[in-house]
Amino acid sequence: MTIKSLPKVELHLHLEGAAPPAFIRGLAKEKHIDIAGIFNEEGSYRFTDFWNFLKVYEAACTTLTGPQEFYRLTLAVLEESAANGVIYSETFLSPDFCGNRDLGAWREYLHAIQEAAAKAQTDFGITLRGIVTPIRHFGPEKARETARCAVETAGDFITGFGIGGDEKSGELKDFLWSFDCAREAGLRVTAHAGEWKGPDEVRAAMNDLGAERIGHGVRAIEDMALVEEIAERGVVLELCPGSNVALGIYPNFRKHPIGEMYDRGVKVTINTDDPPFFHTTMTREYDMLNRAFDWDEAVFRKIARTALDAAFCDADTKTRLLNMLEQADG
Ligand code: ADE
Ligand code: ZN
Repeated sequence: MTIKSLPKVELHLHLEGAAPPAFIRGLAKEKHIDIAGIFNEEGSYRFTDFWNFLKVYEAACTTLTGPQEFYRLTLAVLEESAANGVIYSETFLSPDFCGNRDLGAWREYLHAIQEAAAKAQTDFGITLRGIVTPIRHFGPEKARETARCAVETAGDFITGFGIGGDEKSGELKDFLWSFDCAREAGLRVTAHAGEWKGPDEVRAAMNDLGAERIGHGVRAIEDMALVEEIAERGVVLELCPGSNVALGIYPNFRKHPIGEMYDRGVKVTINTDDPPFFHTTMTREYDMLNRAFDWDEAVFRKIARTALDAAFCDADTKTRLLNMLEQADG
């Protein structure tokens, strides 16, 4: 079996961040929106650092003007994921970009995304679930409106609540009210932490917000007692090595903490974050990890099971997907 065809489970993917630049350029042209400055001569997204990346990301999102655009985006993203062997994906969805957190609008966007997901299930055999995600630098007040959207649409498809955006903006505990609401509505909780801030931020996500998964969390490596605690408590890290290398947190895959964390018994998972921005795919992540750490099929199969275990979907879906992983074992 090739690395590309190995069945994969992805837990950390931003839907808008998975939009190919050509897709966004096409929409911009259709709608006469001038965002030429976010692309370089080769037609890729152009950004200088993480904070500039967030601006480029938000500019790209201005072309996603309605539910129909999200339908097309979801279908395109899932087709690409499935082509890379992904059988299950969880995507961050932000009501900020889907009708400005208006509940009625959000329901319409969500309906379109779910219709695309159903078509992708039929056409490409990939399953999608959504994690509603406030943007940290938009502040706690907007996060409350986002939490309301999440609570009102929690169910079979919207199964989680998270937080992304600028980790250096405000404190995680400022968002506790939103996370408590989400949890009371039965949503599972993850949080971006320990990407741009250090180990204390990972502790805050685990202890203040009660996150059972951490988005990134790589900077925990700066505190071995924390790495041990993460391993012991079974907190799952949604690691995105290619994203971290592209944004300059680590110089290359070999220097990425995923190898050491795996060796120390941390439940690591492999994810792409915003694949076209970082010139990556799930296949490339696997290839690079194979080269950097000599990881073989057995390691990747184990990691796919860890990811499926940690997935925010119902038990029947997990059983069906586990069968798919086991069938591929041969
Ligand atoms: N939104 C999209 N990608 C992100 C990342 N890597 N960190 C935080 N927020 C994000
Ligand atoms: Zn992310």
